[in-house]
Amino acid sequence: MSGQWKKAAALEPVWAALARHRDEIAGRTMRDLFAADPARAGRFTLSFDGLLLDYSKNRLTGRTMALLRDLAAAADLPAWTRRMFAGERINTTENRAVLHVALRNRGNAPIMVDGADVMPEVNAVLARMRDFTARVRDGAWTGATGRRIASVVNIGIGGSDLGPRMAVEALAAFRHERLAFHFVSNVDGAEIARTLAPLDPAETLFVVASKTFATQETMANAATARAWLTAALGDGAVARHFVAVSTNAAEVARFGIDAANMFEFWDWVGGRFSLWSAVGLPIALSIGMDRFEEMLDGAHAMDGHFRDAPPERNLPLTLALVGVWNTNLLGAETQAVLPYDQGLARFPAYLQQAEMESNGKSVGRDGRRVERATAPVLFGEPGTNGQHAFYQLIHQGTRLVPCDFIAPAETHYKTGRHHAMLLANFLAQSEALMLGKTAAEARAELAAEGLTGAALEALVPHRVFGGDRPSNSILVRRLDPRTLGMLIALYEHKIFAQGVIWGINSFDQWGVELGKQLATRILPELEGDGPPGRHDSSTTQLLAQVRAWLKP
Ligand code: F6P
Repeated sequence: MSGQWKKAAALEPVWAALARHRDEIAGRTMRDLFAADPARAGRFTLSFDGLLLDYSKNRLTGRTMALLRDLAAAADLPAWTRRMFAGERINTTENRAVLHVALRNRGNAPIMVDGADVMPEVNAVLARMRDFTARVRDGAWTGATGRRIASVVNIGIGGSDLGPRMAVEALAAFRHERLAFHFVSNVDGAEIARTLAPLDPAETLFVVASKTFATQETMANAATARAWLTAALGDGAVARHFVAVSTNAAEVARFGIDAANMFEFWDWVGGRFSLWSAVGLPIALSIGMDRFEEMLDGAHAMDGHFRDAPPERNLPLTLALVGVWNTNLLGAETQAVLPYDQGLARFPAYLQQAEMESNGKSVGRDGRRVERATAPVLFGEPGTNGQHAFYQLIHQGTRLVPCDFIAPAETHYKTGRHHAMLLANFLAQSEALMLGKTAAEARAELAAEGLTGAALEALVPHRVFGGDRPSNSILVRRLDPRTLGMLIALYEHKIFAQGVIWGINSFDQWGVELGKQLATRILPELEGDGPPGRHDSSTTQLLAQVRAWLKP
């Protein structure tokens, strides 16, 4: 981040100044703020390369944003950003660099890790992806019986599933007409059984994606898929029907996948940031390598913007600061992500991992307990579905739920007036949340409906909307590979900036380990008939009940 930053102050005085400022403006609603400043929307809107962020419908002022930028400076965000882009090992608990930006470094400027430029390796894998995806798409790559591939099944979980699953769906309008895409992640055998049932082994290609190639769910699903394939086509068919995406060549070979069919990535790619790597293979198979690279281009453009744009015009930074304001100063415990685009149906699930696995931490980089809240609970559904499910709570519940509304202005699907109706709802929701409806307005509305007297008065409190509920609106002209790349990178850098402000390491995920360890211990106890190991009395009781019911 370049020179336009104020000199860093100490962090605690800025938090204290923010708390005082919050109390000072507490009496001013958003209605007041909009009424007082006709230029408010423009003053609190940023755009970059066709992506527009309107954050004016938040309870904040210019002074709020200035203080929040002081906070980012005090947390040393420009220096942390430099370190990340320079390949320093900022993931200290795993001693790793954090370089998803290298995967989309389209300018090819060298990025050094341990004295070696990573770009030649990155480009070599991109070239292999180009060759392979072209052959599958044009039919030159055939299955073992000579038939062309018709179904691609990605087997992976977490970052090795959520990114490609979300992006293939988001970019369905660009999908290759012959290829169908399936995703299997859960260790629940129902998912793979139901996925494979209608497929023809002779036309099916499996992509086994796992950074470690040791993840229980993925290994179990991959073994089941291989058994399904070889039962139909014999062992010799594996080489034509299985490819792997991993950092672990030894385990890929042990599983029986040819080194020639392995697409490599590196330990400096975090799982939840891996869709830019060969983990994106299903995306490239679906939309073609040129369009996959357009997605990388979009993310790269956002990287440059985040790194170089001045703080007042910086979109990821602004999104991060508004989130910090809502979380730490206004006490919000959740964050809703509400895409008004059916293609982005999996975007909230994708962001759940990106945000909650990154910033769901309670210990700081220094090993001490953090003093403030970190990542909110993120959830969401595409509009308008969510409106008929949980928006009631967002409009009239007791909690403050900041919302990110996301929409493309154009649609790929010209179906009557559907898109105009969708966009009308997108616009209406943030307006309704901000304005609310006063008792006087509710009264007038009820009177117009013909109610009078006690019947009218009894309904008034139920028909009042408090309003003053914060939201951001993110608008793109249309959802295409480039804008999707920009959108994802926008959130990645938001998450990074928030992690720096909260003083945590956003790039490890130790919190997922304990459950994995205990499940590994419990599995043989569940399957065996020996005495179970020592557990708390609740777990012992549940285990005994399951064993009793499963006894032949
Ligand atoms: O359980 C958490 C996790 O480690 C995620 O961070 C990761 O994306 C997922 O598991 C899958 O890991 P792998 O790609 O190594 O199979």
